[in-house]
Amino acid sequence: MVLNAKGGCGKSTISTNLASYFAFERQQKVVMIDFDPQGSSMAWLNVRGDREPRIQGLPAWEKSVRIPTSVDTVILDTPARVQGQELSQLVRRVETIIVPVLPSPIDMRAAADFMKALLLNGKISRKQTKIAVVANRVRENTLIYQSLQAFLKSLKIPFITSLRDTQNYIHAEQQGLGIFEMPPSVVWQDLEQWQPLLRLRSKRSFPD
Ligand SMILES: Nc1ncnc2c1ncn2[C@@H]1O[C@H](COP(=O)(O)OP(=O)(O)O)[C@@H](O)[C@H]1O
Ligand SMILES: [Mg+2]
Repeated sequence: MVLNAKGGCGKSTISTNLASYFAFERQQKVVMIDFDPQGSSMAWLNVRGDREPRIQGLPAWEKSVRIPTSVDTVILDTPARVQGQELSQLVRRVETIIVPVLPSPIDMRAAADFMKALLLNGKISRKQTKIAVVANRVRENTLIYQSLQAFLKSLKIPFITSLRDTQNYIHAEQQGLGIFEMPPSVVWQDLEQWQPLLRLRSKRSFPD
Protein backbone atom coordinates (compact mmCIF):
# COMPACT_ATOMS: atom_id res chain seq x y z
CA MET A 1 0.00 0.00 0.00
CA VAL A 2 1.28 3.42 -0.93
CA LEU A 3 0.10 5.92 1.62
CA ASN A 4 0.52 9.52 2.75
CA ALA A 5 -2.09 12.06 3.78
CA LYS A 6 -0.51 14.60 1.43
CA GLY A 7 -1.52 14.87 -2.24
CA GLY A 8 0.99 15.05 -5.05
CA CYS A 9 3.83 13.24 -3.25
CA GLY A 10 3.94 10.37 -5.75
CA LYS A 11 1.52 7.75 -4.40
CA SER A 12 0.02 6.95 -7.78
CA THR A 13 3.38 7.11 -9.54
CA ILE A 14 4.89 4.62 -7.11
CA SER A 15 1.77 2.41 -7.24
CA THR A 16 1.71 2.16 -11.03
CA ASN A 17 5.44 1.56 -11.23
CA LEU A 18 5.27 -1.17 -8.60
CA ALA A 19 2.39 -2.80 -10.47
CA SER A 20 4.40 -2.68 -13.69
CA TYR A 21 7.45 -4.16 -11.95
CA PHE A 22 5.61 -7.21 -10.60
CA ALA A 23 3.67 -7.78 -13.84
CA PHE A 24 6.48 -7.16 -16.33
CA GLU A 25 9.69 -7.98 -14.52
CA ARG A 26 8.42 -10.81 -12.32
CA GLN A 27 5.57 -12.04 -14.52
CA GLN A 28 3.20 -12.06 -11.62
CA LYS A 29 -0.56 -11.83 -11.50
CA VAL A 30 -1.07 -8.29 -10.24
CA VAL A 31 -4.14 -6.47 -9.03
CA MET A 32 -4.12 -2.73 -8.46
CA ILE A 33 -6.80 -1.30 -6.20
CA ASP A 34 -7.43 2.43 -6.41
CA PHE A 35 -9.05 4.01 -3.35
CA ASP A 36 -8.71 7.55 -4.69
CA PRO A 37 -11.81 9.04 -6.39
CA GLN A 38 -9.39 10.90 -8.67
CA GLY A 39 -8.71 7.49 -10.18
CA SER A 40 -5.15 8.18 -11.38
CA SER A 41 -4.09 4.54 -11.25
CA MET A 42 -7.21 3.43 -13.08
CA ALA A 43 -6.61 6.11 -15.73
CA TRP A 44 -3.06 4.80 -16.15
CA LEU A 45 -4.42 1.28 -16.63
CA ASN A 46 -6.86 2.53 -19.27
CA VAL A 47 -3.94 3.90 -21.29
CA ARG A 48 -1.95 0.70 -20.88
CA GLY A 49 -1.99 -1.30 -24.10
CA ASP A 50 -3.04 -4.91 -24.58
CA ARG A 51 0.53 -5.80 -25.54
CA GLU A 52 1.81 -5.12 -22.03
CA PRO A 53 1.51 -7.70 -19.27
CA ARG A 54 -1.98 -7.46 -17.89
CA ILE A 55 -2.70 -5.77 -14.59
CA GLN A 56 -6.21 -6.04 -13.19
CA GLY A 57 -7.64 -2.79 -11.85
CA LEU A 58 -10.29 -2.43 -9.17
CA PRO A 59 -11.77 0.99 -8.39
CA ALA A 60 -12.59 1.07 -4.67
CA TRP A 61 -13.62 4.65 -3.97
CA GLU A 62 -17.37 4.09 -4.21
CA LYS A 63 -17.97 0.70 -2.79
CA SER A 64 -15.64 -1.53 -0.89
CA VAL A 65 -13.93 -4.29 -2.81
CA ARG A 66 -12.89 -7.71 -1.75
CA ILE A 67 -9.11 -8.03 -1.94
CA PRO A 68 -8.46 -10.98 -4.27
CA THR A 69 -6.50 -13.85 -2.79
CA SER A 70 -5.65 -15.88 -5.88
CA VAL A 71 -3.09 -13.37 -7.16
CA ASP A 72 0.59 -12.83 -6.49
CA THR A 73 0.64 -9.14 -5.64
CA VAL A 74 -1.95 -6.55 -4.74
CA ILE A 75 -0.99 -2.87 -4.94
CA LEU A 76 -3.19 -0.34 -3.15
CA ASP A 77 -3.15 3.29 -4.23
CA THR A 78 -4.77 5.63 -1.72
CA PRO A 79 -6.19 9.16 -1.67
CA ALA A 80 -4.81 12.14 0.22
CA ARG A 81 -6.39 13.04 3.56
CA VAL A 82 -6.95 9.53 4.87
CA GLN A 83 -6.94 9.61 8.63
CA GLY A 84 -8.61 8.23 11.72
CA GLN A 85 -10.81 5.19 11.28
CA GLU A 86 -10.42 5.11 7.53
CA LEU A 87 -6.66 4.94 7.97
CA SER A 88 -6.84 2.11 10.51
CA GLN A 89 -9.17 0.16 8.27
CA LEU A 90 -6.88 0.43 5.27
CA VAL A 91 -3.76 -0.41 7.23
CA ARG A 92 -5.37 -3.47 8.77
CA ARG A 93 -5.31 -5.27 5.47
CA VAL A 94 -1.75 -4.75 4.28
CA GLU A 95 1.67 -6.34 4.40
CA THR A 96 3.86 -3.34 3.50
CA ILE A 97 3.29 0.42 3.57
CA ILE A 98 5.34 2.79 1.48
CA VAL A 99 5.18 6.50 2.35
CA PRO A 100 6.52 8.88 -0.32
CA VAL A 101 7.67 12.29 0.90
CA LEU A 102 8.63 15.31 -1.22
CA PRO A 103 11.56 17.57 -0.39
CA SER A 104 9.51 20.60 0.67
CA PRO A 105 8.95 22.15 4.12
CA ILE A 106 5.17 21.80 3.82
CA ASP A 107 5.38 18.15 2.83
CA MET A 108 7.89 17.32 5.53
CA ARG A 109 5.74 18.91 8.23
CA ALA A 110 2.65 17.07 6.98
CA ALA A 111 4.63 13.83 6.80
CA ALA A 112 5.80 14.17 10.40
CA ASP A 113 2.19 14.43 11.59
CA PHE A 114 1.10 11.59 9.38
CA MET A 115 3.86 9.25 10.60
CA LYS A 116 2.86 9.97 14.20
CA ALA A 117 -0.71 8.94 13.41
CA LEU A 118 0.52 5.86 11.58
CA LEU A 119 2.82 4.73 14.37
CA LEU A 120 -0.06 4.91 16.83
CA ASN A 121 -1.80 2.23 14.79
CA GLY A 122 -1.85 -1.05 16.67
CA LYS A 123 -0.86 -3.26 13.79
CA ILE A 124 2.21 -1.19 13.02
CA SER A 125 3.31 -0.76 16.60
CA ARG A 126 3.23 -4.55 16.91
CA LYS A 127 5.45 -4.69 13.80
CA GLN A 128 3.04 -6.81 11.85
CA THR A 129 3.27 -4.41 8.94
CA LYS A 130 6.46 -3.37 7.22
CA ILE A 131 6.71 0.34 6.66
CA ALA A 132 9.20 2.44 4.74
CA VAL A 133 9.58 6.02 3.58
CA VAL A 134 10.80 7.05 0.15
CA ALA A 135 12.05 10.53 -0.74
CA ASN A 136 10.48 11.42 -4.09
CA ARG A 137 11.20 14.01 -6.81
CA VAL A 138 14.62 14.55 -5.40
CA ARG A 139 17.15 16.94 -6.88
CA GLU A 140 20.49 16.06 -5.39
CA ASN A 141 22.82 18.74 -4.12
CA THR A 142 19.96 20.96 -3.00
CA LEU A 143 19.70 22.23 0.56
CA ILE A 144 16.12 21.09 0.88
CA TYR A 145 17.11 17.54 -0.08
CA GLN A 146 19.71 17.61 2.68
CA SER A 147 17.05 18.70 5.17
CA LEU A 148 14.72 15.99 3.92
CA GLN A 149 17.40 13.33 4.34
CA ALA A 150 18.10 14.48 7.88
CA PHE A 151 14.39 14.57 8.65
CA LEU A 152 13.72 11.09 7.24
CA LYS A 153 16.66 9.62 9.09
CA SER A 154 15.33 11.07 12.32
CA LEU A 155 12.03 9.19 11.97
CA LYS A 156 11.34 5.86 13.55
CA ILE A 157 10.54 4.50 10.10
CA PRO A 158 13.23 3.13 7.75
CA PHE A 159 14.20 5.57 5.00
CA ILE A 160 14.61 3.18 2.14
CA THR A 161 15.52 5.14 -1.00
CA SER A 162 15.37 8.41 -2.93
CA LEU A 163 13.81 8.69 -6.37
CA ARG A 164 14.99 11.52 -8.55
CA ASP A 165 12.82 14.10 -10.24
CA THR A 166 12.72 13.05 -13.88
CA GLN A 167 10.51 13.22 -16.94
CA ASN A 168 10.95 9.44 -17.26
CA TYR A 169 8.04 8.97 -14.85
CA ILE A 170 5.90 11.36 -16.89
CA HIS A 171 6.79 9.67 -20.17
CA ALA A 172 6.07 6.21 -18.75
CA GLU A 173 2.77 7.41 -17.26
CA GLN A 174 1.64 8.84 -20.61
CA GLN A 175 2.02 5.41 -22.20
CA GLY A 176 0.50 3.36 -19.40
CA LEU A 177 3.91 1.89 -18.63
CA GLY A 178 6.25 1.75 -15.68
CA ILE A 179 9.91 2.74 -15.91
CA PHE A 180 10.71 -0.99 -15.86
CA GLU A 181 9.14 -1.23 -19.30
CA MET A 182 11.15 1.67 -20.76
CA PRO A 183 14.52 1.37 -22.55
CA PRO A 184 17.18 0.61 -19.91
CA SER A 185 19.55 3.11 -21.53
CA VAL A 186 17.05 5.85 -20.57
CA VAL A 187 16.01 4.70 -17.10
CA TRP A 188 19.06 2.93 -15.69
CA GLN A 189 19.59 5.51 -12.94
CA ASP A 190 15.96 5.17 -11.88
CA LEU A 191 16.11 1.38 -11.91
CA GLU A 192 19.03 1.55 -9.50
CA GLN A 193 17.14 3.85 -7.17
CA TRP A 194 14.19 1.44 -7.09
CA GLN A 195 16.24 -1.58 -5.99
CA PRO A 196 15.91 -1.10 -2.20
CA LEU A 197 12.17 -0.65 -2.61
CA LEU A 198 11.83 -3.84 -4.65
CA ARG A 199 13.81 -5.83 -2.13
CA LEU A 200 11.28 -4.96 0.59
CA ARG A 201 9.02 -7.67 -0.70
CA SER A 202 11.44 -10.47 0.04
CA LYS A 203 12.53 -9.20 3.45
CA ARG A 204 10.55 -10.75 6.25
CA SER A 205 10.69 -7.78 8.53
CA PHE A 206 12.64 -4.66 9.23
CA PRO A 207 15.57 -4.62 11.59
CA ASP A 208 14.89 -2.65 14.77
N1 LIG B 1 9.98 11.23 -9.30
C1 LIG B 1 9.19 12.01 -10.06
N2 LIG B 1 9.73 12.77 -11.05
C2 LIG B 1 8.95 13.58 -11.80
N3 LIG B 1 7.64 13.70 -11.65
C3 LIG B 1 7.04 12.97 -10.70
C4 LIG B 1 7.77 12.09 -9.86
N4 LIG B 1 6.90 11.51 -8.99
C5 LIG B 1 5.68 12.01 -9.28
N5 LIG B 1 5.75 12.89 -10.30
C6 LIG B 1 4.65 13.68 -10.86
O1 LIG B 1 4.07 14.44 -9.80
C7 LIG B 1 2.67 14.51 -9.93
C8 LIG B 1 2.00 13.97 -8.65
O2 LIG B 1 2.31 12.60 -8.52
P1 LIG B 1 1.23 11.51 -8.12
O3 LIG B 1 1.88 10.19 -8.22
O4 LIG B 1 -0.02 11.72 -8.91
O5 LIG B 1 0.98 11.90 -6.60
P2 LIG B 1 -0.21 11.46 -5.60
O6 LIG B 1 -0.80 10.20 -6.13
O7 LIG B 1 0.48 11.29 -4.28
O8 LIG B 1 -1.18 12.61 -5.56
C9 LIG B 1 2.31 13.71 -11.17
O9 LIG B 1 2.16 14.60 -12.24
C10 LIG B 1 3.52 12.82 -11.39
O10 LIG B 1 3.71 12.53 -12.74
MG1 LIG C 1 -2.77 9.68 -6.55
